[in-house]
Amino acid sequence: VSDPRHVLLVGLPGSGKTTVAPLLAERLGWRSVDIDDEVERRLGMPVAQAFTDLGEPRFRAEERVAAEVALAAADPVVIAAGGGLIAQRGAIELLQRRAMVVCLDAPDAELAARVGSGEGRPLLGATPGVSLHHLRAQRSASHDQALLYVATAGRTPTEVAEAIAATLNTAVRVGTARPYLVHVRAAAVDEIGSYLPPSARRVVVIADEAVGAVADALAVRLRGRDRTAVVLAIPGGEPAKQWAVAGRLLERCSDAGLDRDDCIVAVGGGSIGDVAGLVAATYMRGVAWVVVPTTLLAMADSAVGGKTAVNLRRGKNLAGVFWQPRAVVCDPSLLAGLPERSFRSAFAEVVKSSMVGGGHVAEVVDRRLEAALGRDPEALTELIRACCTLKAEVVGGDERELGRRAILNYGHTVGHAVEALTGLGTGLDHGEAVAFGMRAAGALSVVEADCPAGDIAHQDALLDACGLTQRPRVSAAEVAAQLGSDKKARAGVARWVLLRRRGDPVTGIVAEPGAVRTAISAALAA
Ligand SMILES: NC(=O)c1ccc[n+]([C@@H]2O[C@H](COP(=O)([O-])OP(=O)(O)OC[C@H]3O[C@@H](n4cnc5c(N)ncnc54)[C@H](O)[C@@H]3O)[C@@H](O)[C@H]2O)c1
Repeated sequence: VSDPRHVLLVGLPGSGKTTVAPLLAERLGWRSVDIDDEVERRLGMPVAQAFTDLGEPRFRAEERVAAEVALAAADPVVIAAGGGLIAQRGAIELLQRRAMVVCLDAPDAELAARVGSGEGRPLLGATPGVSLHHLRAQRSASHDQALLYVATAGRTPTEVAEAIAATLNTAVRVGTARPYLVHVRAAAVDEIGSYLPPSARRVVVIADEAVGAVADALAVRLRGRDRTAVVLAIPGGEPAKQWAVAGRLLERCSDAGLDRDDCIVAVGGGSIGDVAGLVAATYMRGVAWVVVPTTLLAMADSAVGGKTAVNLRRGKNLAGVFWQPRAVVCDPSLLAGLPERSFRSAFAEVVKSSMVGGGHVAEVVDRRLEAALGRDPEALTELIRACCTLKAEVVGGDERELGRRAILNYGHTVGHAVEALTGLGTGLDHGEAVAFGMRAAGALSVVEADCPAGDIAHQDALLDACGLTQRPRVSAAEVAAQLGSDKKARAGVARWVLLRRRGDPVTGIVAEPGAVRTAISAALAA
């Protein structure tokens, strides 16, 4: 994870922040700073004495200054936060922008045993057990905002540091208003408990029945002393994306007693993510949700970005909201049973990412495409991570698609028109239609945006290599006529995403109608 540069460890007294910080820093090759030590240095006295001699407000002010100094460092730092830092109203949101907040935790009894008499810990008083219980209640809302929750019971500090380092080294951070991590690695689902807010006592897993076994195993992992989990399995695909299905799922969440601190987990492809996300966004005006994508399309594209939707009679995704998940868990081993057509078709979005993103994602796609097509797990992991990194970067800068996020619609103008013409669920599938749309948008880019023909020839060769060579049985005129009905058209005129070259997309282009028909004909004939 590259941005932001710092890690901030938070947690109740005894959770291990001070011990783990230097161990984690060592593994990441960073520096570590302990805020309590800094405050002691600044004030020239131990924390407990500062509390009694100077009072809590003064101590907290010093704590804030020390944290600001640490966060301003140019080199990456692991910071062990004083507990009071995040207890301050609104502090967690500020800290999240500058650092990845990781919460360490253990049951109260274990924390109490670790802190012993509570000596040197002014907040714990004479009865640490009771005080811990209160502190937990006070700080739970802040702790719930962390990017990662690490259970430390039964683990040595070194094991904890190693687990955090392994997670951070393989995750992608999405810098939305409330940031979250996309975990991309084999067996990432085994750690599902670390991605859910600790306050979530009830979990509803909304799953595609095709991956019911994955959902059941996940629910078993989630259930514990303080947590229940129920699985609601429904048929996946477009039939899941209906208002009526969302309504039934909402009733089931209510039957399960889900409340505002609880959590929904979506397990399935883009269709389940879209409907489960809408349920999470609307249940009690919004509860936390975590996505576990099980198709390549969902891992490389749809699970990141918080777009949720159901279809209406007149078209796809016509009713929905933006609601970002708390975490996305991409475990490429879940793709093992995915049918070949769905697998291949997702490469349209992968090639698209490389064409609009350029740079790193283009390099990874060019180097790893062949191995990934052969389902090599490491190549798939690298490819998914590169696509998620691009999507995170784009979505983080434009959460609600008011500007740059539209670049991700490259190829979709014609793609959607083809899907509408050939009927949803018949003819070309979504990826095949987008691949065709990219060929048309590519041909148009050469004419309308001076894109080098070689870049588009390369794009088309990549699509060929993926077996995405399907052409719709429609005429160029029919496709052109359909373009004006697209959701993203304005006043019946399509707005194109074109390429000035690979990695340099331009949005909102109104193209000359003759050039549009020629480009579509070229794509049909190729
Ligand atoms: N929210 C977004 O940003 C976004 C982006 C792109 C696409 N989408 C939406 O995503 C949907 C398409 O998603 P998709 O391509 O993931 O397909 P999907 O969810 O429709 O699933 C396709 C089929 O694969 C099955 N399946 C899922 N996982 C499987 C597995 N691991 N093994 C075997 N079978 C499995 C499903 O049951 C279904 O029959 C569309 O509705 C599209 O609108 C959303």
